[in-house]
Amino acid sequence: MVGNKALAVFASGRGSNLQAIMEAIANGKLDMELVLVLSDQPDARALDRARRAGVATEVLPFTGDAEGYGEKLLRYLAPYSVDVIALAGFMRIVPPNFLRDFPGDIVNIHPSLLPAFPGLDAQEQAVDYGVRVSGCTVHFVDEGVDTGPVILQASVPVYASDDEDTLSARILRWEHRLYPRALQLYAEDRLKRCGRKVKILDE
Ligand code: GRF
Repeated sequence: MVGNKALAVFASGRGSNLQAIMEAIANGKLDMELVLVLSDQPDARALDRARRAGVATEVLPFTGDAEGYGEKLLRYLAPYSVDVIALAGFMRIVPPNFLRDFPGDIVNIHPSLLPAFPGLDAQEQAVDYGVRVSGCTVHFVDEGVDTGPVILQASVPVYASDDEDTLSARILRWEHRLYPRALQLYAEDRLKRCGRKVKILDE
């Protein structure tokens, strides 16, 4: 390998997944270089976390025009030579032109066992539906909402006493393990996309 892959994280809020990714890098469990944290929210906690860790940040508030936003994202990203973008609580749909023209890969983490409960409030959807098991999914991003090829999943039990908050907390603990693990597979070039499926090499 010539060098570690360059990672950008897009986040809109708290940034606990970003934190888990930064810690995995610091602890030698994730061989990537975090070159940029980008947010659409100027006051996102994720930005503070990045700044504290000395990581470059960009703020790009949504303009209301998806295509223009996609073009701006491409322009902002260009100097960083990013190989892969990890969406971590980024509350925007990635514009189609960005998806088409960004030369690297884009991955996302979602707090359900996809294809169950895509979109917003996945944990609340799971509680309301009455499922006994839920979890989280890391997947490649495609043009749909949470529809891209699955990389890794982890399951957690759902108890009758759960509400959205207790289930979210249980899932989040797994998110923090799963995301760095999935990114490390990417870093090792072990993810091979075969149409709808992702093959993990040397598993
Ligand atoms: C996580 O639950 C993630 O699965 C979802 O948004 C939340 C982000 O949390 N996409 P955080 O900002 O990483 O703490």
